[in-house]
Amino acid sequence: MIKEIAALLEEPDLTAALANVSACIKMNYDNLNWAGFYLVRNNELVLGPFQGKPACTHIAFDKGVCGACYREKAVQRVDDVFARPEHIACDADSRSELCVPILVNGDVVGEIDLDAPVKCRFTEKEEKEMLQAAEAIASAWVQHHWSV
Ligand code: SME
Repeated sequence: MIKEIAALLEEPDLTAALANVSACIKMNYDNLNWAGFYLVRNNELVLGPFQGKPACTHIAFDKGVCGACYREKAVQRVDDVFARPEHIACDADSRSELCVPILVNGDVVGEIDLDAPVKCRFTEKEEKEMLQAAEAIASAWVQHHWSV
């Protein structure tokens, strides 16, 4: 999938590129109910392109699994969202989550966020693949001079 994502990231428009990347992830992984992006804008996380049900539009850095991903600059792989009290349930069907930071020059500029309707959906394999996707997005970010 990383080759497909790299090809989609040749698109120079941020919204257009990330919209296609979210579609690509949703198509290539089974058992997802949400796949998309949060982007850092005005000191918070703002909903970006995604596939799935309508979701929270603004997330503060001190809230949710996405906020933890931002603060820790680290992947959040959550086997059971009910075991994370701070989890924000945008979709009541979500049972597990994978949130991966997109780092440009050491700063989080956005996150890939995936939700699944079953516990323990995400393994080391998905974590590695989404880390590769995040790196490809970070490279495109620099190459295309993206900003939010
Ligand atoms: N579950 C996330 C919120 C975003 S939705 O999953 C799309 C969180 O706890 O931050």
